[in-house]
Amino acid sequence: MKTLKVELGDRSYPIFIGQGLMGNANLVKPYVKGQQVLIVTNTTVAPLYLEKCKQTFADFNVESVVLPDGEEYKNLETLNLVFDKLIGDRFDRSCTLVALGGGVIGDMTGFAAAAFQRGVNFIQMPTTLLSQVDSSVGGKTGVNHPLGKNMIGAFHQPECVVIDTESLNTLEDRQLSAGLAEVIKYGLIQDPEFFEWLEANIERLLAREPEALAYAIERSCQDKADIVAKDEKEAGLRALFNLGHTFGHAIEAGMGYGKWLHGEGVSAGSMQAVYMSKLLGDLTQADEERIQGLFDRANLPVLPPSVSEMNNDKFLDLMAGDKKVQAGTIRLVLLKSIGQAYVTGDYPKELLEKTLTDWR
Ligand code: NAD
Ligand code: GLY
Repeated sequence: MKTLKVELGDRSYPIFIGQGLMGNANLVKPYVKGQQVLIVTNTTVAPLYLEKCKQTFADFNVESVVLPDGEEYKNLETLNLVFDKLIGDRFDRSCTLVALGGGVIGDMTGFAAAAFQRGVNFIQMPTTLLSQVDSSVGGKTGVNHPLGKNMIGAFHQPECVVIDTESLNTLEDRQLSAGLAEVIKYGLIQDPEFFEWLEANIERLLAREPEALAYAIERSCQDKADIVAKDEKEAGLRALFNLGHTFGHAIEAGMGYGKWLHGEGVSAGSMQAVYMSKLLGDLTQADEERIQGLFDRANLPVLPPSVSEMNNDKFLDLMAGDKKVQAGTIRLVLLKSIGQAYVTGDYPKELLEKTLTDWR
């Protein structure tokens, strides 16, 4: 087992990474404060891992709530099912919530923990690659609104993150690829060496070689933990994690939540940011081809939906609702080079229009 740490003073917490960690009661015991534990999961993950997860908390009074599965259920209505259970079963302020599932479950459970009785503890047990490399770390929690992704939420850090890499064995190939989009993102924004490693090892990751997966998860979590420690609430640096997300979130909302996976939106959206960075003179044609090649090999989409599915006006309208917008300006994460990202609202507006028109 490998242990990393998110350094946040007295709210610091460990990330445990290893095979077969689910079911290890001694590992999680110190991070459960009261006696009541509520495991939040969904209809897909429950038959696979709920019993094992319950064993992890066998020393406590464990209950569970099973939500419908899908990004289209990541909303306030579904969240109420968690509150119904917590309030109906008289959970008190010392309870601990456990998020057992992918990023949708993690974000919703974290938000329920942030809001229930103004804040209770929670533990992340991510079971998708995407949630293991990104969403379970850093304390961003929330739900979608029909007009915008993740628009309602809170920063609320978990007590610990337990990454059992064995859970990836049951994940669909399409979901594994979606997780790789966020892995590639770390290379692009700040870790050129890791980008090169990914170029050399992407097929090993797709084949689910345990050693390669463990390395990619550890390196991604370390990259994420480093930035979160410096900028927990996204005053600046943390916004770099949003490479491809302003475009990608527009794709997810515009096409209807659940049609495009989050990682697929990030992949196509990152390529839109790459194309725009090339128009700005920062990336070369060779850089663009290299980055496109890696997303392609990871079986991810490199083009956004066609104009007939989503025209420029719809794109711009949805992008204008992004959380990074300041005084009406759409701020984007762009690349100076592979491994060096920056956030800017200072670009010629026609270049954004040209990107939306040309990169299809
Ligand atoms: P997801 O949670 O929808 O999971 C993908 C699918 O895999 C679901 O059908 C799920 O039930 C299933 N699944 C989960 N674990 C499985 C397993 N071990 N075996 C088989 N099937 C399994 O999607 P995701 O890609 O994990 O997460 C995407 C979400 O994460 C988005 O809502 C996105 O906004 C959010 N996100 C949040 C952050 C953050 O910092 N909080 C960062 C990135 C993404
Ligand atoms: N995934 C974006 C962030 O955690 O900031």
